[in-house]
Amino acid sequence: MPKHIAVVPGDGAGKEVVPEAVKVLGAVGVELELEDFDIGADRYLATGVALDDATFEQLKAADAVLFGAVGDPRVDEHYAASVLLRMRFEMDLWANLRPARLYDARLSPLRDEKLREVDLLVVRENTEGIYVGAGGRFKKGTPDEVAIQEDVNTYKGVNRILEHAFTRARREVCMVDKSNAMGHAGGLWQSRWKALAPAHPGLATRHLYCDACTMELVRDPSQFDVIVSGNLFGDLLSDLSAQLIGGMGIAPSANVNPDNGKGLFEPVHGSAPKLAGRGIVNPLGAILSAGMMLSHLGFQAEAETIENAVVAAIRAGECTRDIGGDLSTAAAGDAVVKHLKGT
Ligand code: IPM
Ligand code: MN
Repeated sequence: MPKHIAVVPGDGAGKEVVPEAVKVLGAVGVELELEDFDIGADRYLATGVALDDATFEQLKAADAVLFGAVGDPRVDEHYAASVLLRMRFEMDLWANLRPARLYDARLSPLRDEKLREVDLLVVRENTEGIYVGAGGRFKKGTPDEVAIQEDVNTYKGVNRILEHAFTRARREVCMVDKSNAMGHAGGLWQSRWKALAPAHPGLATRHLYCDACTMELVRDPSQFDVIVSGNLFGDLLSDLSAQLIGGMGIAPSANVNPDNGKGLFEPVHGSAPKLAGRGIVNPLGAILSAGMMLSHLGFQAEAETIENAVVAAIRAGECTRDIGGDLSTAAAGDAVVKHLKGT
């Protein structure tokens, strides 16, 4: 039985990049059953519901979701969260894997060539932390207003993401928190870290506070292998990492539940309303995310073929303007297909 993939382009740039990822999947020779879902701001504006329960059940039943982006200037910013965060939370996609590899030295913003080598993975906790929406606003709109946003960390959630980070590492796991200022949450992260780290003698382990980690990422990103952190810090560190390899346009991600194998694969960039609709957005983040999906589904060789073709297209300058080429979104997708075939 071919794997059943729910394809959700979403809004803006998502609608332009997902077809390119689908194009590449079609060319790499894996038999998949793709089903398109129209989830986005147009539907939200028309019906008042961004993601209805019946559609959500279908997404949950799929083997994987190939996702673009959600977000639209016509609707408020909570709309994106109501779709994307709902999927992450309710499908319990607790590990967000965000690799950053420098595919071509010219894409590095760093001056010193020795420090450019980036090949790291941010393992971001994806279902807890400050993202859960706990808290409230009291005396709203008055000078006495109080806003509370609670950071929810559970033993189970922290333990499983730390353990998972070790399964992804080649040489080191660096745990990042802010336990010097956030002692309750940080205390739990620290205690699980201290309990788990010694069980992996083959891997180096290190802890950094989040502020120090941002500095080290810019000073010398080549030092990192796996960085594991909570939801918010992982969000920030993955954007920073993306910029070290050429920007948001080429950064992929996998939101997975390693227990039941479910996954949602999406470029790290959002709907980019300022760029969308002009045929200029970079499809490589989405294409690499489709590659991560194949790897997750067990098609390791095909995933590598896609990544190699992306690298070849970038090195040949056959890419969009944001990474130094002059191709349109569709032509950049075609270039990857061309390199897939080794021509
Ligand atoms: C991301 C995005 C989301 C996040 C937003 C849209 C809620 O920035 O996928 O990184 O913060 O997780
Ligand atoms: Mn983000």
